[in-house]
Amino acid sequence: MASILIVFGSTTGNTEYMAGEIEKTLQGGGAEVKTLNASGLKADGLCDGYDMVFFGCSTWGMNSIELQDDFIPLFDNLDKSNVKGKKAAVFGCGDSGYEYYCGAVDAIKEKLEALGATVVDTMKVDGDPQSVQADIASWAKKAAA
Ligand SMILES: Cc1cc2nc3c(=O)[nH]c(=O)nc-3n(C[C@H](O)[C@H](O)[C@H](O)COP(=O)(O)O)c2cc1C
Repeated sequence: MASILIVFGSTTGNTEYMAGEIEKTLQGGGAEVKTLNASGLKADGLCDGYDMVFFGCSTWGMNSIELQDDFIPLFDNLDKSNVKGKKAAVFGCGDSGYEYYCGAVDAIKEKLEALGATVVDTMKVDGDPQSVQADIASWAKKAAA
């Protein structure tokens, strides 16, 4: 049975909703899933024991890419998470009206790859994730396959 970790940072609940849908989908596929809110989470050894990690984060800021507040300390210490050699996927909600649409997803993907993780896929949601519930489920299934 695959052991999968989902970590998310979410201010208004949109990326948290995605995390919940991903969790349900992966559990339905027989995986053992743990979902953690990035708030107050320590990066040290975070990925130990997992076959795959899903990272979710929304994007904030105006003229630059800003990660969701709770995710920033985790991002800054990601090198301590032992993500090297792990399979990973990145997701998040944003608004395409902003210059850096879902820029947090791109920034996390880039950092994970620099740390030696294999990012198999990313998913960006423009607006309300509940309107694309089925797409989130099929994306999660494909990413974890
Ligand atoms: C002040 C402000 C700045 C934002 N900046 C961005 C941005 O740079 N890029 C983007 O894609 N979305 C941006 N958004 C949209 C949020 O990322 C979006 O509302 C998202 O659904 C929030 O997800 P969360 O509830 O998981 O935190 C911004 C929203 C606000 C209110």
